[in-house]
Amino acid sequence: MKINTETIIKDNNPKIREKSEDVKLPLSAQDRQLLMQMYDYVDRSTDPDIAEKENLQPAVGISAIQVGVKKKMAAIIVKDSDGNIVYGFALVNPKIISESVEKAYLKGGEGCLSVPLNHEGYVYRKKRIKVKAYDALTDREVIIEAKDYLAIVMQHEFDHFKGILYYDHIDKDQPFKVLDNATCIE
Ligand code: NI
Repeated sequence: MKINTETIIKDNNPKIREKSEDVKLPLSAQDRQLLMQMYDYVDRSTDPDIAEKENLQPAVGISAIQVGVKKKMAAIIVKDSDGNIVYGFALVNPKIISESVEKAYLKGGEGCLSVPLNHEGYVYRKKRIKVKAYDALTDREVIIEAKDYLAIVMQHEFDHFKGILYYDHIDKDQPFKVLDNATCIE
């Protein structure tokens, strides 16, 4: 499967609202291949030359439903300003096992490969989450304690498993309403 801007499912396709299912472990060769392709997409998408040549929209994460596969798999890569990978995960069946009351949001709002139009407004997420998952990169069960930006990215991706898109969280009447006890992430 070729993953690029053309093949990624957009929000005008009802499939993006479908719920994803647990993946059978040990990971089948097919599931692993797809997840690695997703990881590769995210990694390559932030290289401007590759992105232009291969028609890739820059991303920090992608979920399998975005390529039409209803399985709980997500690839996430957070890089520093030099392009080095700070966090890289190829997650299978991730589950949030605990979360903070405190919230966090991105100052510039969120974006999504499946949402071509920009929806302005703050998306409030949990500031800290603890995630249990199988990581196909390291081939082990992992417990990830994520906060701030990484936590936001993870919650965005895991929402895709439930058919939820980021703009579902934006307050239609007051999109830039500032909540108490929420950290603004630049
Ligand atoms: Ni998304």
